[in-house]
Amino acid sequence: MKNLKVSVVGLGYLGATQAIVLASQGFQVIGIDVDEQKISSLQKGQVPFYEPGLAELLQLALESGKVSFTSAYSDALADVDIHFICVGTPLGEDGSEIDTKYVLEAAASIAEHAKPDSILVGRSTVPPGTATKIRDLISGSGKVSPKIAWNPEFLSEGTAVMDFLKPDRVVVGVEDEFSERLLQEVYQDFLDDNRPFLSMSLASAELAKVAANSFLAMKVSFINGVASVAEASGASTRELALALGMDPRIGNRFLSNGLGFGGGCLPKDISGFAETAKRSGNLAFANMLQGVIDVNNDRVETTLSIITRLTKSFTNPKIAVLGATFKGNTDDLRNSPAMFLVNRLKDYGFDVRIHDPMAGTDDIESDIWNNLEKVVEGVDVLVTATDWKEYKQLRAESLERYVARKIIVDTRGIIDSDSWVARDWKVLRLGEGQDFDG
Ligand code: UDX
Repeated sequence: MKNLKVSVVGLGYLGATQAIVLASQGFQVIGIDVDEQKISSLQKGQVPFYEPGLAELLQLALESGKVSFTSAYSDALADVDIHFICVGTPLGEDGSEIDTKYVLEAAASIAEHAKPDSILVGRSTVPPGTATKIRDLISGSGKVSPKIAWNPEFLSEGTAVMDFLKPDRVVVGVEDEFSERLLQEVYQDFLDDNRPFLSMSLASAELAKVAANSFLAMKVSFINGVASVAEASGASTRELALALGMDPRIGNRFLSNGLGFGGGCLPKDISGFAETAKRSGNLAFANMLQGVIDVNNDRVETTLSIITRLTKSFTNPKIAVLGATFKGNTDDLRNSPAMFLVNRLKDYGFDVRIHDPMAGTDDIESDIWNNLEKVVEGVDVLVTATDWKEYKQLRAESLERYVARKIIVDTRGIIDSDSWVARDWKVLRLGEGQDFDG
């Protein structure tokens, strides 16, 4: 029996997962979001985005009466012990610094209703110093004791529920024992000897998230940089990644080359971290992080130039881009390298069709379709742009009766290329030294 009452403000990918998983574990949860449509779909038991396993947990939580959703900050918050702030922190107007205005607004609204011995816990990604700014803001309001903690999230889309239930670590930034104890109580069931609870300063906790995501981004850009060298020198990135990854100091994850990283976190976090580095006077580090971003952008341009070279003798070449989301197993199109590629191909006048198993629909008017046969009909080049498992399982023989030419650019390196080559397909894979001319 969990006695703590929890509120979760902001019900996007992070907040909805936080609210639903905690309710399913027995906490009494109030979820708040300004978006009425989101609230009404959650009340009806519908998760407004795709996240494996979450809809089932929502059903259980609703049936047990452990979760309620509302668009109003109300006196219901007066009972709550822990308020989690999960609102968005987009990049600001100038595209570099993370904008914390929604976090500050949420904190101020919570403070209007919260009881003195409750705590405000930020989960959103913010630049260092935001937590203390909130502390000063709410202590000025005089209504709530200024206890503030930071608890960065490390949930990956597609595996968010499992990441929540079995975290690698739980990081909390706290200034007092009371906050630490309450947070320990929230997470204790998910922790064991291999899943530690790391308590640290507010600034460390704020930076832990952007530093972790920037490191992951750097790994992806590193292998993508290696890929460009491999393309020019006849080496194979797949072989190189194998050799690198077996060194335990490097590790084999996040070494898949492709179109680059995207999504709601990595691109934003590394830009924000580069800006923080610049503001701390560390230009060398800021430039290193900027290099990671530049390498990332380069992959879409390289793919564009490969397709341009491949099709230079074709009249009105038609391209089918397979995948629209930023990675497989999500419906999220934010900062999707696949969509960046689509836009660049359109800039160059290509006739482009887009397929996605999750973000696509069967509406002929829509931009993204979910009917693969229709999308590939009469096209000159197929391009795999997202690492969906549906594309890993693609068979050449099931598509070749529809296409105009048997050419595939496998940016994510996911198809079984030998079986395609055996059926006379021209297969080009990013990061492999090969003949890119058509
Ligand atoms: C990320 C972090 O992993 C998570 O801990 C954090 O809290 C939120 O941000 P997510 O945005 O869901 O999660 O995506 P992630 O799985 O990290 O992938 C990010 C991008 O890198 C994707 O576009 C993916 O396709 C790309 N990627 C990842 C590669 O190109 N190669 C790889 O080897 C791994």
